[in-house]
Amino acid sequence: MKLNIYEHARDIFLDTLNVDDYLELDRRSDIYGYLKNSTTKPLKIILLYGKPGTGKSMLLLKLYQDLLSTQKVHLYQTPILDENEFFKTIAQDLYEMNYNNELNFTQFMKVVENKNPQENKIPLILLDEAQLYSSSLMEKIRLLADTRKVKFIIALHKTQKEDIIAKEHFQTRIWESIQLENASTSELKIYIQKKLMKANFLDIASMFSSKSVNLIHKFTDGNYRNTNKLLYTLFDIYDYYDKNAPSKIKKGKVLNDIIEMSAIQTGFINA
Ligand SMILES: Nc1ncnc2c1ncn2[C@@H]1O[C@H](COP(=O)(O)OP(=O)(O)OP(=O)(O)O)[C@@H](O)[C@H]1O
Ligand SMILES: [Mg+2]
Repeated sequence: MKLNIYEHARDIFLDTLNVDDYLELDRRSDIYGYLKNSTTKPLKIILLYGKPGTGKSMLLLKLYQDLLSTQKVHLYQTPILDENEFFKTIAQDLYEMNYNNELNFTQFMKVVENKNPQENKIPLILLDEAQLYSSSLMEKIRLLADTRKVKFIIALHKTQKEDIIAKEHFQTRIWESIQLENASTSELKIYIQKKLMKANFLDIASMFSSKSVNLIHKFTDGNYRNTNKLLYTLFDIYDYYDKNAPSKIKKGKVLNDIIEMSAIQTGFINA
């Protein structure tokens, strides 16, 4: 089925995690550079935290892709909650060791302690959605990192229930934490325009003036996921008008009314 222009633009804002969609975004590229650089240094577990939709998974995925060809790196996007399974999977992925039976933490530590990787060959483990791991497993991960034979970058979002960062196991000096924030208005403008330009929608990209983006920011607070949702809806509305009442949409500028309608429809404001 052939999509028309607004349907196309809409689908650019589907909330999917695809490394090809990664964009350089001001502060984000600084963090990315820092993370990439830190993987060549000893010590430290890096904790990447921030609200849902701030781009933690995207950043981990990008890092994974970029390091893959030069370094031993593994990405676990979905937590392995069973401890035995966790250590077995890591033993398999890091050292190609297969265990049919149990592999508990003590046994795994023995394996790790016998490894002596060169500084630049220390394997890196990327754990996403780490708020789902138990405190006891987190503590074991810390002990593992303490051996300096495995490095970790761990992404988690703060839950409302508790401040995970404040927990004891994140307080030791080997942890370093980096917070991902929502986009500022100027970052959001770059995000929206770059996304559209990447798909060659130059005219549509230029419809988003700073004023329009400020209004969008008011509703989404610069959260990437929420912005995706709002823009998906916005282009859906554009598509509807384009087909049914083209006189209602002006070319060249996004209408505030339509931004507001989208915000209502996505639940970011009450009608
Ligand atoms: N650097 C980026 N380049 C392009 N798109 C991005 C970037 N960062 C975030 N996004 C967009 O924002 C969406 C949400 O980001 P992501 O899934 O990484 O958030 P998250 O912080 O992992 O959220 P959660 O805590 O819910 O897992 C992505 O699907 C993507 O569309
Ligand atoms: Mg995520």
